[in-house]
Amino acid sequence: MLLTAEQQAVLDGAQGEVRAKVMKTLVMYGETFGAEKMVPVTSRYGHLVTSFGLGMMKGMYRLMDELIAAGAVSGQKFSADPRPMDKNVPSNPLQNLVFHFMYSKQTPYEAQLRRLGLLDGSPFTCACYLDEVGNLPGKGDVLSWAESSAVNYANSVLGARCNRNSGILELFGSIVGCVPYFGLLTDEGRKASWIVEVKTTKRPEAQLLGSAVGMKVMEDVPYLRGLDRWLGTELGEDARAYLKDFGAATASNGAVGLYHVEHLTPEAVELGDSLIRPDAKVYVVDDAELERVRASYPVIWKDPDAKPKLCFMGCPHMTSAQLHGWTERLGAALAANGRKKVAVPTVFTTAPAVLEAFEKTPDAARLKEMGVIVSYICPLMYMNNPLCGKMPVVTNSNKLRTYTSARYYPDAEILALISGGTQG
Ligand code: F3S
Repeated sequence: MLLTAEQQAVLDGAQGEVRAKVMKTLVMYGETFGAEKMVPVTSRYGHLVTSFGLGMMKGMYRLMDELIAAGAVSGQKFSADPRPMDKNVPSNPLQNLVFHFMYSKQTPYEAQLRRLGLLDGSPFTCACYLDEVGNLPGKGDVLSWAESSAVNYANSVLGARCNRNSGILELFGSIVGCVPYFGLLTDEGRKASWIVEVKTTKRPEAQLLGSAVGMKVMEDVPYLRGLDRWLGTELGEDARAYLKDFGAATASNGAVGLYHVEHLTPEAVELGDSLIRPDAKVYVVDDAELERVRASYPVIWKDPDAKPKLCFMGCPHMTSAQLHGWTERLGAALAANGRKKVAVPTVFTTAPAVLEAFEKTPDAARLKEMGVIVSYICPLMYMNNPLCGKMPVVTNSNKLRTYTSARYYPDAEILALISGGTQG
């Protein structure tokens, strides 16, 4: 790999042994993927995927201590993924005991994160790019992030450039301020090798379409045609929220780090069909295909007919407009069903900064009256508690379905379930 004189000096130990190891790791990472150079990280902020203090990750805490002791901290402030626990989310005493044992290092780990460069306040969310949170990269910015849903959103919706890095490597990039140049950082790597023709008769469910696309194209870049019919050609609030959920499903049900939507996402608007490789394959998604994909999901509950004990919405974290929209829809559905409170304990999750702003609005009290809890938790971290994983949990998140025993339902069916209406 060709390094600049400055990068070579770091590798040679000019800034200490620990920084040299950090640089060496990144160089080895790049060489594995054929990178020929390192490029500067240009975003204002970083973002860390590892936000949970799992007791067993002793090696990671030692590594963090070593970095801090050597002064090898992040050159940019960073946000981090959501916290794994929130006392407001329903759990029984036994589950709480397991939580405290599992995440026993949460407090000291957060102290390490602060010393490494965590942003002030409570920057714990996967949707760090929301306005209220403020970690919003610009088009063309080079990032060192790893959270798959955030990388996917930053590449696709914001036009920033980031590979699907792993945890720790993203911190290393923020420490030395450069990342290996390959894959989604390059113009060539951002070209689509799939054309996805969306031919549904109604607006496709974001998380179902994302699942279908992810499972088909895996780590490739898809170029979607026909979705602008349902989302329009402006990246407004509604389209951005849709793409957040769609993208997270492509990233988790497959390994998509970037997609383009014709007439809508920045690079598709700018470069159009020139983004499509000549040998691109075609995948047609119609109503029947979405039904087929949904029917392929295994139900791994012990009792498939069990009554849901909990519902999680907001994986990735909800936007403010989604919180208000769901308050409205749920209020109307409960009234139509002659109920005041939800039929299934329900948790909406969002970024702490969005939650803080939401709590100042009348909808916060309305949701509370309906029995809905709004939390900053990561539902996946909750479900990783083996005692929680055994519960019949429902969700509208295809990411949560993929990684846990939670069962996926489209929005309309979730609404019927939690409002005590007829589902289907
Ligand atoms: Fe975010 Fe946790 Fe889901 S990090 S995308 S809420 S799994």
